[in-house]
Amino acid sequence: MTSSGSPVTIPLGISPSELPALSTHRLEVLKTANDPNVTVGQMEEVIGRDQSLALRVLKIANSPLYGRSGDVKSIRRAVFLLGRDQIKHAAAALAIAPIFDMDVEGLVDGTVLWKHALATASWVERISKYAGRRMPEHMYTASLMHDIGLVIMLKCVDQEVSIIETARDEVRAVEDVERERLGTDHGALAAAVCEAWGLPAALAQLLATHHEPADGVGQLLGLGQWMARHTGFPEFDWMSVMACASHEQLDALDLNDEDVENILVDVEFVREEVAVLGFN
Ligand SMILES: [Fe+2]
Ligand SMILES: [Fe+2]
Repeated sequence: MTSSGSPVTIPLGISPSELPALSTHRLEVLKTANDPNVTVGQMEEVIGRDQSLALRVLKIANSPLYGRSGDVKSIRRAVFLLGRDQIKHAAAALAIAPIFDMDVEGLVDGTVLWKHALATASWVERISKYAGRRMPEHMYTASLMHDIGLVIMLKCVDQEVSIIETARDEVRAVEDVERERLGTDHGALAAAVCEAWGLPAALAQLLATHHEPADGVGQLLGLGQWMARHTGFPEFDWMSVMACASHEQLDALDLNDEDVENILVDVEFVREEVAVLGFN
């Protein structure tokens, strides 16, 4: 059921119980992190209710990324130091991460997929800052969740392994082979997870169309993914990378190739952010 009580629309005959589930508390953390009106104090309160989450936030605040080394001892100080946007981003990442703890031997490593998600989110934020565009509130979570449908496909759809093998062997996009064989793609499943978790409809819509972006926000997610792949964070380690960002992406964001080079200068920051928020 969705938060409004209507049934979730899930393609491929997958039942709601097969969708990935978060604990009640992790889901609350994720929803709070996507609430445009939430205060820093509310973030501190919701994180502080789970000791393992609180410890991870302390570790992040004490990481070289924020110029600290062990002198942040309380959640209050950690939240204050990170600031509203960063604490929301970290909380969303920590809540979602366990879903990506999966492995299909030789084909899909959940760690690789999660690093792709984190790098995409980090690049999306850097592109937005460079372009002077305020990201929609749900943009960071959308970046983290955009390929979550692949996790469900691998768990629930027998054909997905052979679809990925075909995409690999024929150097084709996975979503194209999915649509050809299944009539839908992993974006539709990601949208179903958003619905089931009661996340904003705009987030579900963005994930549903992440391989055929309909507007500037979709192109922003696409450019973030390209930058993630380009800087060593592909969805799969066998996936090839297009040489350039697409002109549709750049035109929609009023950017050019030189801007892309300027944004890519932040690669070390992105690598550090991925390391801090990755599985460890
Ligand atoms: Fe992706
Ligand atoms: Fe995707």
